[in-house]
Amino acid sequence: MSKQRAKLVVGNWKMHGRLEANATLLQAIARRAAALPADVRVAVCVPFPYLAQVQSLLEGSRVAWGVQDVSANAQGAYTGEVAAEMAREFGASFAIVGHSERRAYHYESAELVAVKTQRALEAGLTPIVCVGETLEQREAGTTEQVVDVQLGEVLAKLSSEEAAQIVVAYEPVWAIGTGRSATAAQAQQVHAFLRAQLAAKGAAVADVPLLYGGSVKPDNAEELFRQRDIDGGLIGGASLKEADFIAICEAAAAASAAQAS
Ligand code: 13P
Repeated sequence: MSKQRAKLVVGNWKMHGRLEANATLLQAIARRAAALPADVRVAVCVPFPYLAQVQSLLEGSRVAWGVQDVSANAQGAYTGEVAAEMAREFGASFAIVGHSERRAYHYESAELVAVKTQRALEAGLTPIVCVGETLEQREAGTTEQVVDVQLGEVLAKLSSEEAAQIVVAYEPVWAIGTGRSATAAQAQQVHAFLRAQLAAKGAAVADVPLLYGGSVKPDNAEELFRQRDIDGGLIGGASLKEADFIAICEAAAAASAAQAS
């Protein structure tokens, strides 16, 4: 039997935040996260302008931080883009890449997402690679094919040592911001598929954290996180509410304790 994996809960603030409200939220999360067991890791991915603020408020706490995208280029004449190295300078640990909102609104291809993953790794960031099908694709029965291509493109560009350093988030597009989460069984089924795809890349890759995202709330988090191949969550709306985000982190702790017993 493989050893139990730690849980990871990551907030994706998307394009939300203001200095004053951020400070209240971050201080509360840092304070409450201090009481979590060591096998629950917590992070928040914030808009770029707030990196300095999160660094100053979270440094030395149990909460890590990251960004929601990085440029596919290391540096140069790319107006408006932000390099992974720049985020790293502000102490970021994570970079979300290939979120469905970027694939949809910024036409990011699977290939571009793979290059961004490489840039993040080169800069010393842990890429959180997002995959997931639309409602149309699910109804057409092509969910596994869709995520297979999305993750496959990334894995093809990485060595197995590099692949062992990523995080993967399964986020069905139809569950994002809709209040309609995948059921625990639906999510687990896709996670098991992704786990097998990762394992085919090498033994060390099989255990990379696999997060579920899409309408995770305090009342469905523990059931999702108890699933065998669900190692935590990527949380949108609920990560902006202190009580909800903390409750979701506590659900990860409860799920972990249940799996250990
Ligand atoms: P919601 O939790 O708001 O559904 O968003 C999920 C998501 O897109 C996280 O990246």
